[in-house]
Amino acid sequence: MKTSVLSTQDTQAVPTGAQLIRAGGLVAFPTETVYGLGADGLNGAAVDRIFAAKGRPNDNPLILHVAEKQDAFSLWDGEPPYARALMDTFWPGPLTLIYRRAPIVPDQVTAGLDTVAVRMPDSAAARALIAASGVPIAAPSANLSGKPSPTTAQHVLDDMDGRIPLILDGGPCRYGVESTVLSLAGAPTILRPGAVTPEMLAAVIGEVALAPSILSPLKAGETVASPGMKYKHYAPNAQVLVVVGEPKAAAARISALYDQFAGAGKRVRIAATAEAAPFYGSRSIALLGTRQDPTTLCSRLFGLLRELDREADVILCEGVGTAGTGLAFMNRLLRSAGFHVEYLP
Ligand code: TXA
Ligand code: MG
Repeated sequence: MKTSVLSTQDTQAVPTGAQLIRAGGLVAFPTETVYGLGADGLNGAAVDRIFAAKGRPNDNPLILHVAEKQDAFSLWDGEPPYARALMDTFWPGPLTLIYRRAPIVPDQVTAGLDTVAVRMPDSAAARALIAASGVPIAAPSANLSGKPSPTTAQHVLDDMDGRIPLILDGGPCRYGVESTVLSLAGAPTILRPGAVTPEMLAAVIGEVALAPSILSPLKAGETVASPGMKYKHYAPNAQVLVVVGEPKAAAARISALYDQFAGAGKRVRIAATAEAAPFYGSRSIALLGTRQDPTTLCSRLFGLLRELDREADVILCEGVGTAGTGLAFMNRLLRSAGFHVEYLP
């Protein structure tokens, strides 16, 4: 299959994409978080094609994307508690809400669960595509299963060339990490952190719980609220190792690891924060951004992992604190490292 790329500026982009979606095909499209791989969310056979193209385990449910707030209510069985206030504050935007599913939602979307995840993206191109398709669009991130999520159309092409007919190119994604996933099926619980932080949610609906798997691997026998959490995730081919500590101490430890791996003949790259950059001596580093602004760290992470993966066997990366969007950054980074992390005293 030949994969075409159309700019979202091209007047043919949205109509061509919508026609493919209505015909049961796949279209990769930009959102403010990461690129999505979309199909008609009410057509089970179309949704099956998403799993095939990504190589995604079919027990991992998908998010339905809507163009208007009111469209969410036809997908849920009744009105979720807190939903109106959350939608008024954060939609369109990077917040996904989970609640009991309505019967029209196909089993392929929910992977057999009795709940469904819904979000309204804050990307004009994404909403235009959904509106023109006339159906909710089911879309996971548009990467091969297990790889870092795509934040540019080129990343999508790198993973999906020959597997899907069309990529809509809307430039780099603003946030660069996927939406916050909040379950409203019981007490409000964050299953996956994102740009809408626990602090921001608490300001609207009071304290929310955090799923235990956000910053730690699943323990044997533990069941998981969000099936996506149990798989190897966001991982480049290179081994990622994380060191969390004050800038000077983290740089010293990473420098020691660097010398050790380089001495053993490995190709090593360092992903550093601006605060620690002065402490790496003559070792070359790739700059992630400043610890003062974890939102920028989030937006750079997946792209940098993909970039460094081309030239390294081992990627040594600094971790940061988990306040604000630092939680989303650490959630993705620790998974990309398969939880290979050192916390310095
Ligand atoms: O920002 C995003 O959310 C992007 C863009 C494309 O919208 N989409 C995205 O989809 O990240 P995906 O499939 O890569 O991640 C969806 C996550 C997975 O961890 C999945 O297990 C979880 O949401 N999820 C979906 N439906 C669920 C449900 N009913 N119950 C629990 N977890 C669910
Ligand atoms: Mg994903």
